[in-house]
Amino acid sequence: MMSTSVPDPRLKGRAVDRIAFSEQAIADRCRVLGGEITAAYPDGELLVLGLLKGSFIFLADLVREIERPLHVDFLVASSYGNATVSSGTVRLLYDPETSLEGKHLLLVEDIVDSGRTLQHLVTLLQARRPASIAICALLHKRIATELQHRVRFVGFDAPPVFLVGYGLDHAEDFRHVPYVASLAT
Ligand code: IMP
Ligand code: MG
Repeated sequence: MMSTSVPDPRLKGRAVDRIAFSEQAIADRCRVLGGEITAAYPDGELLVLGLLKGSFIFLADLVREIERPLHVDFLVASSYGNATVSSGTVRLLYDPETSLEGKHLLLVEDIVDSGRTLQHLVTLLQARRPASIAICALLHKRIATELQHRVRFVGFDAPPVFLVGYGLDHAEDFRHVPYVASLAT
């Protein structure tokens, strides 16, 4: 990671602590991931499902690096609420219009933290009888105790701090920041 002291007008007066992943590093990684995904799906219908809102920028960059036919749709999952409560389950507030049966699903997420969101979503989507389900996350904190499925495609292992930018928010701020950073307190 590198330090920066350059003020960024997108940050509402906050200062960057560290840029964890630069625009260039993310672009380079998207190209490699896109190549891996292209190679991983030789045939069949591929539906890339972005988990809103956090995945919107990553998905837009990633799909342009996947050199095969595919469709794009999105999911909006309800939050499981209080993070200390593990009994909650997710509901879909927006559900893809298309049938998922027989399709290869690639779930695209911004960051895997506890893994709870993805655990519930994969279980829910498996009931729709897709041909396969794989997870692609830009960032993985590697602390997910609740996820029984592997994250097949990972952009970067993330440091154990709160990150913003490139889709990731803090109270809806900073999603449009083109790099991933931690903010100074
Ligand atoms: P999980 O269900 O605990 O894995 O939480 C995943 C969701 O929490 C992500 O989709 C993000 O919306 C949010 N999240 C987790 N860690 C961070 C972070 O460091 N910055 C911003 N959002 C985060
Ligand atoms: Mg969020």
